[in-house]
Parts: sequence; structure tokens; C-alpha cells
Amino acid sequence: MPLLQVRDLCLTLPTRNGPIAVVEGLSFDIDEQDSLALVGESGCGKSLTALAIMGLLPPAISISAGSIQFRGRELVGCSDRQWRRFRGGAMAMVFQEPIASLNPVLRIATQIEEVLALHGDGDRRWRKRQAVSLLEQVGLPDPAALARAYPHELSGGMCQRVLLAMALAGEPDLLIADEPTTALDVTVQAQILDLLIEIRRQRGLAFLWISHDLGVVSRLCDRVAVMYAGKLVEQQPVQTLFGNPRHPYTRGLMAASPSLEQQALPTGIPGRVPAPEDFTAGCRFRDRCSQAMELCFEDPPAFPLESEDAWVRCFLMDTSATSAGEALSNGEEAK
Ligand SMILES: Nc1ncnc2c1ncn2[C@@H]1O[C@H](COP(=O)(O)OP(=O)(O)O)[C@@H](O)[C@H]1O
Ligand SMILES: [Mg+2]
Repeated sequence: MPLLQVRDLCLTLPTRNGPIAVVEGLSFDIDEQDSLALVGESGCGKSLTALAIMGLLPPAISISAGSIQFRGRELVGCSDRQWRRFRGGAMAMVFQEPIASLNPVLRIATQIEEVLALHGDGDRRWRKRQAVSLLEQVGLPDPAALARAYPHELSGGMCQRVLLAMALAGEPDLLIADEPTTALDVTVQAQILDLLIEIRRQRGLAFLWISHDLGVVSRLCDRVAVMYAGKLVEQQPVQTLFGNPRHPYTRGLMAASPSLEQQALPTGIPGRVPAPEDFTAGCRFRDRCSQAMELCFEDPPAFPLESEDAWVRCFLMDTSATSAGEALSNGEEAK
């Protein structure tokens, strides 16, 4: 049984014109010590997916269908109290904005001790010692002094380390990280990544890693799921995805990603992700795809790829369809 199993998850936002699905039919598994990256441009539904798993969706958005099982236990339909037993404990999350994620009026130690009080079983003295020890484990200098500081006395990188210490306080099996380094300087970003790689190695944590940075993903994750406009379009192990991206969207993301080896400037994908109210049936990438066909007005099924648990939702994988298919003219490259 996987550690986390998400099946056919739909997240819905009510509007004047009726409910719209912001995330639709999402399915993936994360095993113990496994790491899955969820990648895609801004607005694809990555953060909402993470928040849904944590039971922290914004009030307007609800889970309208599907299942989220953690260690075989169904979370959809759980009360907030039941969800809290996992959240911050076996399942922890670090967010994109480290400074905004800390309580400005509480000392650092107090915030970590709160997590320890909820999920640990030691007394107050143990919690105090443990908080300092956690600050040390995330590589913060002079942890005893830092424990007494307030968040505004810390840099963004230090705050992210504190949040990581809080996440680790609950001894999680699954860490969900939503672009945890995006708001940080490049050098600090690299240090935090090294720390996360080390922590994962030591503790055997499973990761759900959300990012638009494919360079980071290639260092950190075993598998990649590509999300576009509320749906998953491709999933592959990290090596085969980088070696042989199959979905035109994945290929576009790679071409748009800067790399040191690559001399040429990255090329963007023309157009932008549609807003949820403009989601249509069929492949949602077709308007931006240079290889779109008439067939792309239908929903592409998941075509299995060579690796285990790897697939892509694109009719280009269906050789019988592409030879018979009629190309649409979305730009000069169209074949
Ligand atoms: N609180 C909210 N209320 C209404 N719509 C939202 C809310 N949060 C996100 N959305 C919409 O849901 C879509 C997906 O958002 P999000 O999960 O934040 O994307 P990502 O993390 O991939 O950038 C976006 O189009 C966004 O406009
Ligand atoms: Mg996001």
C-alpha cells in the first residue's frame, strides 16, 4: 500500500455560472521514502493539490470527488480534528513564503514547542531541549540564542530552516514542499536544497515536491508528474522524463528552463495557462501546442510508456491516430 494515494481528485470552486473544477481527475501515489515532483506553470493547481492533501483548502474551494488516502486511511470527508492528527505530524508541509508562514509575535522556540506539544510525548523540559536540537539539525548557528528570537530578526533563509525544523518536529513520513526555495536568494536556495537532500537521506522521508524549477526537481526527486490546467498530463521517472519528455507541454517546460550547460537562451511556450473558467473538454494544451490535431478536441487517455507507472496523455503517442489525424494550424511548426 502506498504511503499516500490520491485518486480522481476534483477540487471545485463555486461561481455565478455554476461550479468549476480547478483540479480534475488527479491520481498519483507516493510510496514510503519515495519522492514525487509536481511541476507546471503558475496557475495549474499545484498548490491547491498540496493544500487539499493537508486539509487546508481555502474556504471557497472544496473536494467534490475523489479520494486521498494516507497509510490506507481515507482523509476526504474527515473532520478538521481528524485531519489535524496527521497534519504537522506524519504529514508536514513547508510553504513558499517562509516569513509569512511564521507567527510574528511568538518566539521561534515557542512555535516549535507548540508542534512538539501536539505530536510529541515529552514534557516541557524535553520540548525546550528538543526545539533547540531541531534548530541545530537544520543547520542554524547558535540555536540556543536563536530559539529566543522573533521571526523578524531572521533572514528568509533562516526562516525557511525554522519552518523545516517545525515540519520535522512532528517526525513526518511525508513532507510536502510548495516551492520552498522560490522566495530565497540563489545561494541560500542551494544551501536549503542541500539540507533537504541530507535530511531526506538521514530520515528516509517521502517528498511531494512542488516546483516550476526543473533543475531543482532533477536533483531531488525520483519521479515527476507534470500538471497543466488542473490535470496531470505526464508522469515518468526523473531520468526518463529529462531524457525523453513526451508531452509537448513537458518539452516546452524543458525548453523554457534555463540551464548552465545550454548556451542558448531558454525559449518560452507561447500563450498562457487558461483560467479555470475557460477550461474546456479535450486536451487543454491544444491552443498552445504546435502539434495539435482535430483529435485533440477529445480527452486524451493515459498512454502507458516503457517505465513502470509512466504514462502520457497526448494523442501523439497514438501512432494510428497521428498518421490519420488532421493538423491544426497553431504556428509554423505544425505538422
Ligand atoms: N482561494 C482561491 N479562490 C479562488 N480561486 C483560487 C484560489 N486559490 C487558487 N485559485 C485558482 O485555482 C487555480 C490554481 O491555483 P494554484 O493551485 O495556486 O496554482 P499553482 O500553485 O499551480 O500556481 C488558479 O487558477 C487560481 O486562480
Ligand atoms: Mg502555487
